Amino acid sequence: MKAADFIVARNDLQQCRVIETQLPDIAALPDETLLVKVTRFAFTANNITYAVTGDRLKYWSLFPAPDEFGNIPVWGLGEVIASQHPNVPAGEILFGYFPMATHLLIEAADVTKRGLRDGAAHRQGVSPVYNAYARVSGDPAFAGKQGDYQALLRPLFMLSFMVDDFLAENEFFGAKSVLLSSASSKTAFGLAHLLHLRRNGIKVVGLTSASNVGFVESLGCYDEVVTYDRVTSLPSGSPVAFVDMAGNSALRENLHRHFDAQMKYSGLIGLTHRATSPDEKALPGAKPAWFFAPDQMRKRAKEWGPGGIDTRFGAAWSGFAPNLDRWLKVTEGRGPAAVKQVYLDTLNGHVPPQQGHILSLAS
Ligand SMILES: NC(=O)c1ccc[n+]([C@@H]2O[C@H](COP(=O)([O-])OP(=O)(O)OC[C@H]3O[C@@H](n4cnc5c(N)ncnc54)[C@H](OP(=O)(O)O)[C@@H]3O)[C@@H](O)[C@H]2O)c1
Repeated sequence: MKAADFIVARNDLQQCRVIETQLPDIAALPDETLLVKVTRFAFTANNITYAVTGDRLKYWSLFPAPDEFGNIPVWGLGEVIASQHPNVPAGEILFGYFPMATHLLIEAADVTKRGLRDGAAHRQGVSPVYNAYARVSGDPAFAGKQGDYQALLRPLFMLSFMVDDFLAENEFFGAKSVLLSSASSKTAFGLAHLLHLRRNGIKVVGLTSASNVGFVESLGCYDEVVTYDRVTSLPSGSPVAFVDMAGNSALRENLHRHFDAQMKYSGLIGLTHRATSPDEKALPGAKPAWFFAPDQMRKRAKEWGPGGIDTRFGAAWSGFAPNLDRWLKVTEGRGPAAVKQVYLDTLNGHVPPQQGHILSLAS
């Protein structure tokens, strides 16, 4: 049986190709193993960040590829087409982290009614969240368009949810405004939506490119939208918090120098602009630091008890998801050429923010 993988050169992300792979004989699958057909996956700037940080954060080890190439992890849905696990039948639908490929072999472990884990040795060096699969057969929240929204946004919205919670818990570090860079990104507008819902008088300011102003304004969850070249026109006399999805060193320096001691929090989240200088100078105001979601999750898991995060996240998602019909246009692409095009367009910043790409490597 033939399968295919989409792989990229780790040191030159513009180089990519599809390779044919051989799947094992189904009759000879080892015990507990599942053969999963990857049916649909989302592709956004977040996946490019996985590639950019692949060596440092071990993303490349999840789905090994030959030579100097790597397979970028994606969030999506798969169908178990053969199973050697007594409690996971063929036909089961899984939601989780997949390779850009037609198929994945999973060594099923910790199987419960709601999920399972891939216990493959090469996957154990990363956070457990990347090895967990939800069993979603028959769940309307993962069917059709809802499933596409889950693949496109659920992992990103979890970050938005944890940052919103972290800022509120810390009383916004005294800030009167929160500035979000790459305001047009899904992660940013998920956070803007949650901050806007608080209606606590704290202004939500979106920073974006000139070409994305219209989209960001249309969302209705930013109080003000400012282009990158005009950030120094913002009044610098009142305290701000900066949540950085862009990872652009020049922008960060500009903001810190402009707000000076009024920069009360500076959290790094993303790298959409891929413009981080390796030797950033010390800046005035709060020291920039990576926001590490697993730390906040661990803390809340303890404080909120079993199911506490899931219940609160579920409620937040229920308030967020109904907006997506207005905010996003889901575009489906099938086959190697479509996958390559969306990959290169996303890498090179050519995807309009209202577009949500759902892909499958199989034609
Ligand atoms: N730390 C974490 O745990 C965590 C979790 C979730 C997401 N993130 C990060 O948050 C970021 C946003 O991810 P997303 O999937 O939400 O993004 P997305 O929706 O695909 O965002 C697209 C936006 O990013 C900017 N952008 C994308 N590619 C660009 C390029 N080549 N050049 C310049 N600008 C570009 C543009 O925004 P503007 O014009 O508005 O700048 C574009 O509209 C990613 O870096 C992701 O890894 C981190």
